[in-house]
Amino acid sequence: MSKEEQLNYSEAIQNASAYLMRFPLIPVRGIPLMNYIANNWDSIWAFCPDPSDLLIATYPKAGTTWTQEIVDLLLHNGDAEACKRAPTPVRSPFLEICSPPPIPSGLELLHKMDPPRMIKTHLPFQLVPPGFWENKCKTIYVARNAKDNLVSYYYFHCMNLTLPEPGPWGDYIQKFMRGQLSWGSWYDHVKGYWKEREKRNILYLFYEDLKENPRREVERIMRYLDLSVSDEVISKIVELTSFKNMKENPMANYSCIPKCVFDPSISDFMRKGEVGDWTNHFTPEQSTMFDEDYEKQMKDANISFRTLI
Ligand code: A3P
Repeated sequence: MSKEEQLNYSEAIQNASAYLMRFPLIPVRGIPLMNYIANNWDSIWAFCPDPSDLLIATYPKAGTTWTQEIVDLLLHNGDAEACKRAPTPVRSPFLEICSPPPIPSGLELLHKMDPPRMIKTHLPFQLVPPGFWENKCKTIYVARNAKDNLVSYYYFHCMNLTLPEPGPWGDYIQKFMRGQLSWGSWYDHVKGYWKEREKRNILYLFYEDLKENPRREVERIMRYLDLSVSDEVISKIVELTSFKNMKENPMANYSCIPKCVFDPSISDFMRKGEVGDWTNHFTPEQSTMFDEDYEKQMKDANISFRTLI
């Protein structure tokens, strides 16, 4: 993809602004997805990756962008300038995203790139195109504790003017618990990849581990990708991918998305980047109610999440 095409990404979104709205959700095999995605489902499902392609899968707001930046830096031996060649969604296309033209869809961006590509998805395991598993593509899954994930998603619904209105906070918690938000149930999402992680050789990471010890997690990603970079480069990658540095990096902070889509007067994309922010949002009653429901929804899975570190 040429430099010009990369720069055109923001312009294309701006040009489509008259057609942008809070898009309704349409279920695809029971999972609510934005209508543009649902209407293009057949071509998304048919996408066949190259075996060298890497999939980065997450429930929305679990640390996707952070992981994309770490992976890109690892693949470029910590070369910060190389990783500023384009904004995140151009360097690492979002597989299923479809929007009104002329905004390029994830598939259009992917078809213009040569493998190996770094592909982002929020699809739950069962909706990932089967070609990824047939071709044994490496997959990194990042999970974040439900309460912080929910808070982050709430702010994202407020500021992303193409997602449905979040409604009042209390109602939003209910929608999250019932799996009614875009990309469906958080509980099924984290469990779906967890169950398949060994069979499919999925590297399953936790946002809280990345926060606690980014160096250890960057090294895990490096080993999974069969890369070997020096200790010095690892230190550099940890520094470049700190919340503060990514927030200031225009190629990683989503400032490429015009205000008609991501409204920074409501919330920044790089909002807080912490573990435990949920304590500032849940009332004690909401927390108890959420925890009781959580026990039920997660009883069949042996996954430990940390809500504080
Ligand atoms: P908050 O809203 O809690 O701040 P995604 O990339 O999956 O959309 O996730 C976005 C969330 O990850 C946001 O969480 C964002 O601030 C956080 N994030 C992004 N980069 C980060 C980094 N380098 N360190 C910590 N958190 C980061």
